[in-house]
Amino acid sequence: MREKRIYLSSPHMSDEGYEMQYIKEAFDTNWIAPLGANVDGFEREMAAYIGVTGAAALVSGTSALHLAIKLCGVKPGDVVLCSDLTFSATVNPVSYEGGVQVFIDCETDTWNMDPRALEIALKKYPHAKAVIVAHLYGTPAKMDEIIQLCSAYNVPIIEDAAESLGATYKGKQTGTFGKYAALSLVVLKNDTSRKYTGIRSERSKAA
Ligand SMILES: Cc1ncc(COP(=O)(O)O)c(C=O)c1O
Repeated sequence: MREKRIYLSSPHMSDEGYEMQYIKEAFDTNWIAPLGANVDGFEREMAAYIGVTGAAALVSGTSALHLAIKLCGVKPGDVVLCSDLTFSATVNPVSYEGGVQVFIDCETDTWNMDPRALEIALKKYPHAKAVIVAHLYGTPAKMDEIIQLCSAYNVPIIEDAAESLGATYKGKQTGTFGKYAALSLVVLKNDTSRKYTGIRSERSKAA
């Protein structure tokens, strides 16, 4: 007997058939690219869901992280403190701007950035341009401790929330703690648009 194949991340369409409706609408209105009411609505609803004032849809989580790195003003030679247990996209954008990653060990209870290791690194690199914290596998990092340390050194936090859409830390969504955050909707993520779509959110001002 042939065994039933279990597909990884197979597409799921709404029971209501919204997808076909929107495809038809795009053709009927001749509005396929670049942006329009649907992307605007998506940004608005995603920002409201997470609890930030602004969000911007980009082509990928990687580009969201890259934009955050640029907005933090990372220039060649600048140090950025990064989680060391993560997907390479967390840290690649630092190289795109010529920055230097200093890797911070992760801890065993969350598998995310260890605040004790971060403290040692901040003492050594007090002028780091940013700290990139990944919330791996949907588990939030210890944000209270990390925020306290970064505030003391006045270093902005970039949250890599690519794997943690919907996860909360002390009642607040991941992606709301840092100056910037990146989510990912690539096919293997918690929620997906089936296309490589990412988003950047900013806590204090509209994106
Ligand atoms: C932790 C982490 N950061 C960043 C990314 C990059 O997201 P994207 O594939 O949308 O560029 C991913 C996943 O791909 C990820 O798992």
